[in-house]
Amino acid sequence: MANGQKDNETARKEGTGRHALITGASAGIGKDLAEVFARSGFDLVLVARREKRLHEIARDLEHRFAVTVHAVTLDLSEPGAAEWLHNEMRMRGLNIDALVCNAGFGVAGFYRDTSWADQHALCQVMMTGVAELCHRFAPDMGARGYGRILNVASLAGFLPPAPGGTLYIPAKAFEIKLSQALALEYTGENVHVTALCPGFTYTEFHDVMGTRAAMSSMPRFMWMKSMRVAEEGYKAVMQGKPVHIPGRLNRFIAWLAWALPSPAVNAILRRQALYAKKP
Ligand SMILES: NC(=O)c1ccc[n+]([C@@H]2O[C@H](COP(=O)([O-])OP(=O)(O)OC[C@H]3O[C@@H](n4cnc5c(N)ncnc54)[C@H](OP(=O)(O)O)[C@@H]3O)[C@@H](O)[C@H]2O)c1
Repeated sequence: MANGQKDNETARKEGTGRHALITGASAGIGKDLAEVFARSGFDLVLVARREKRLHEIARDLEHRFAVTVHAVTLDLSEPGAAEWLHNEMRMRGLNIDALVCNAGFGVAGFYRDTSWADQHALCQVMMTGVAELCHRFAPDMGARGYGRILNVASLAGFLPPAPGGTLYIPAKAFEIKLSQALALEYTGENVHVTALCPGFTYTEFHDVMGTRAAMSSMPRFMWMKSMRVAEEGYKAVMQGKPVHIPGRLNRFIAWLAWALPSPAVNAILRRQALYAKKP
């Protein structure tokens, strides 16, 4: 058997008889993570709001990877969504062995120019919801002696506060710290918790946020393909890495943010804030 074939066999066994629940699986990184988990033999529960898309993706993955895929249409910005999802999995008799908290979005503009409804949804989807999903699903994993939790945070979580990223940056820092703490709490229980911290990634993220035009001016070398991000995330959580930043350039940026003296960083950010205010 060729080496590549053998690797595929080994990978497929990881998910056999197991379920992975992936939020935000209707597009971008989440959709590719669904494919990566399916490739490894996991049956899937895909969660997002766009029902038709979710069903199309589910049928496609079932057809290509011979796994069972459940599509659950749910708005994670609704308080109570995490509890409903956990109960729903119990009612369907599905044990969740891998949880991927990937759903997310950005809110463009200065804090005061945005609606509280949007900011509240951001907190619910990327902070409260993630914390609650981990709180509800991880103990079941601990009890069964197997669990993989992959929280899709961002390189932004390592960066200093910035105008326009008012709650997005803290939300991503929150996801990183939450994952690191949980990874420690579950040490020795075969429950791995990882924060995946991508930089700029080709997905629908900036279209949804309405910043595609501005982002198009960013050089191509700063962008990564979402499949590569997904594959690295999968590998990191299987290896039990608490934090993974895909891409050398992104790791360098994270290091810079840590190493640069804060007065210099603050001066740059103040200039950026003043520039953004110019009509
Ligand atoms: N793209 C980047 O440059 C980048 C960089 C760093 C980190 N990230 C992070 O990566 C994660 C995935 O983003 P992406 O880039 O793949 O963006 P994307 O292509 O826009 O996908 C976002 C996913 O989240 C789902 N979602 C959004 N709000 C939701 C809600 N209220 N309830 C349920 N699902 C919801 C969307 O599904 P529906 O619309 O169907 O609900 C979609 O499946 C996010 O957490 C993001 O912060 C992205």
